[in-house]
Amino acid sequence: MKLSFAIYLATIATAVLGAQTQVLLPLYAYPGGAQMSPEWQAAVDAISSNPGLHFFVVINPNNGPQSSSDTANGGQCTAPSDANYVEHGCNLDWTTNVDKINALPNAQTIGYVRTGYGSRSAPDVKADITEWAAWNTAKTWDIITFAKNSFQAKGVQPGVVMNPGSNIDADYEADIFGMVTAVVLRETCWTDVSTGAGGDCPEPYTPFNYKTLSSGAGLPYDSSFMSKSAVIVHQFHGPPTASNATLQEQVAGIVGLGLHSTYFTSGSWKTTIATPATIGAFSEFLTQAVTQ
Ligand SMILES: *[C@@H]1O[C@H](CO)[C@@H](O)[C@H](O)[C@H]1NC(C)=O
Repeated sequence: MKLSFAIYLATIATAVLGAQTQVLLPLYAYPGGAQMSPEWQAAVDAISSNPGLHFFVVINPNNGPQSSSDTANGGQCTAPSDANYVEHGCNLDWTTNVDKINALPNAQTIGYVRTGYGSRSAPDVKADITEWAAWNTAKTWDIITFAKNSFQAKGVQPGVVMNPGSNIDADYEADIFGMVTAVVLRETCWTDVSTGAGGDCPEPYTPFNYKTLSSGAGLPYDSSFMSKSAVIVHQFHGPPTASNATLQEQVAGIVGLGLHSTYFTSGSWKTTIATPATIGAFSEFLTQAVTQ
């Protein structure tokens, strides 16, 4: 799922951000209920502790927004029996906890839409986009509307992050970058022991190291698109050495390249709490790197 060619939709505050590298957090874990799940709580804590960073938080109930929100109904958004039911984003675990992230001044949520490397039908992709848009207007979503209006009041237009997970063909690169806010040009694993990647990266994959990124290989062919490029790294554990020091070095290297956004996790895409690259440690090191 994680490397499906995806579009992330959001109201993205690019206009108010400087050129510094931000966080692109794929928060695909279940949010929990009144008590947030540990993964979500760790993310909220990191956002609150790093006010100098902007967090783009990708929300993905189940490869997109549809047929997945209401666990009580077998995963379907079907007929309401409960007074709190909302048609779009019907599971209040999602609505409540997404609201909590959107309420933070330096965070905004982004809806995940799967395109299956272009294999999924256009009507299905459009239906997911329409569904995400409806989440914004369903009851209990006043905070999202507020966040959206606030961004627009600052002169910020709605934006899109695209995630092909690898480079775009040089012939199309300018066209794609021209349409979106950011593109994930590399999403891969850190460890070079592929069995240790737990199926998290397609085989064979290129273990991540910012030093090996180059034009057309994780970085855009045209360097003027560096500030719109993102990298995401999973399975940040050894071998090779994955320590706080290595993480600091990698994060600082990415900041030095001037990329749009990044994210490291020591587990699969669902975890924010595996060490050493917890969302807290990663955000702390990114804050250090961008303020140096
Ligand atoms: C790594 O850094 C984090 C964030 O500062 C810290 O909480 C953690 O204790 C450190 N781990 C080690 C093993 O030093």
